[in-house]
Amino acid sequence: MKARIEEMMAHVAAVELATPDAVEAFRIEYVGRKGKMKDLMAAFKDVPGEDKRELGPMLNALKQAVEGKIKEASQGSKVQVQASGNDATRPAGGIPKGTHHPLQVVRREIVGIFQNMGFAVAEGPEIEDDWHVFSGLNFPPEHPARDMQDTFFVARNPDLLLRTHTSSVQVREMERREPPMRLIMPGRVFRNEAISARAHCMFHQIEGLYIDKGVSFADLKQTLLHFARCFFGAETRIRLRPSYFPFTEPSAEVDVYWGLETEVDKRITKGTGWLEILGCGMVDPNVLRDNGIDPEVYSGFAFGMGIERITMLRYQIGDLRLFFENDLRFLGQFEGER
Ligand code: DAH
Repeated sequence: MKARIEEMMAHVAAVELATPDAVEAFRIEYVGRKGKMKDLMAAFKDVPGEDKRELGPMLNALKQAVEGKIKEASQGSKVQVQASGNDATRPAGGIPKGTHHPLQVVRREIVGIFQNMGFAVAEGPEIEDDWHVFSGLNFPPEHPARDMQDTFFVARNPDLLLRTHTSSVQVREMERREPPMRLIMPGRVFRNEAISARAHCMFHQIEGLYIDKGVSFADLKQTLLHFARCFFGAETRIRLRPSYFPFTEPSAEVDVYWGLETEVDKRITKGTGWLEILGCGMVDPNVLRDNGIDPEVYSGFAFGMGIERITMLRYQIGDLRLFFENDLRFLGQFEGER
């Protein structure tokens, strides 16, 4: 028996197990159900007691050698398979998580603030006609105010154009609804502008409209103050500067107080500490009348803001083009933002 164990020991040490099949055959030969180890163990039972003391440890060593051989050989073959690139035993990798686009994050937040004040969401088409973008908003034909925005027209049809502002959705909604109406209208707009860090031919706006009996300029101001405090922080201050838009009278631009502490503050506020965030005003009676609403009975306010601009302020983004380049190094920085 001792000679048999020694012979097997030598064989185990010398045998080469180059393929998975060879490993499997070796495993069956030694530790399979009818394998050599089983025979040895059976024979060991009949060995006289004094021989057991010598043979026991030898048997154990053989068993370990066999197991070690199998383990080593199967690891070796696994390494080989991995090197070929196909390892069916490899655990699946994690699925990379996507992130929300910063414009989408800010749009959702702004819309949510107005929804909490009872505004409903409305959307309109991006390809529009002259009426909804200009004429229905009190831009007279040939009026220079039409040039405030450089328009893309659809070739061969001067009545069709890409909307230059979401104010067109005001006109669509006034057509379809009866007052009172309280609407927030996000959307994409287009202007024929050269692309730079501060301008793009495509960007996003959010429009607001509130029409009811007795709506006043004070309502407009309080609504926008509430919005600014929800979005920029509870201590935020705003100021209204007189301005001009054909579809509102009076009109104003709204600034938030940003601060003047750092060099960046000075640069982006042009030394004033104030930053413009939106345009607004009381809906011009001509607009109400042209859209079938009696200005003697109803009044309203409207406002419009650029989502890119507000997003750049929120995240201190210096170049508008980053929003549209789909660079994952940029987009990945908004992980966790909803
Ligand atoms: N439509 C204007 C623009 O694109 C923004 C705007 C100003 C919208 C005043 C309004 C408003 O509703 O009342 O620059």
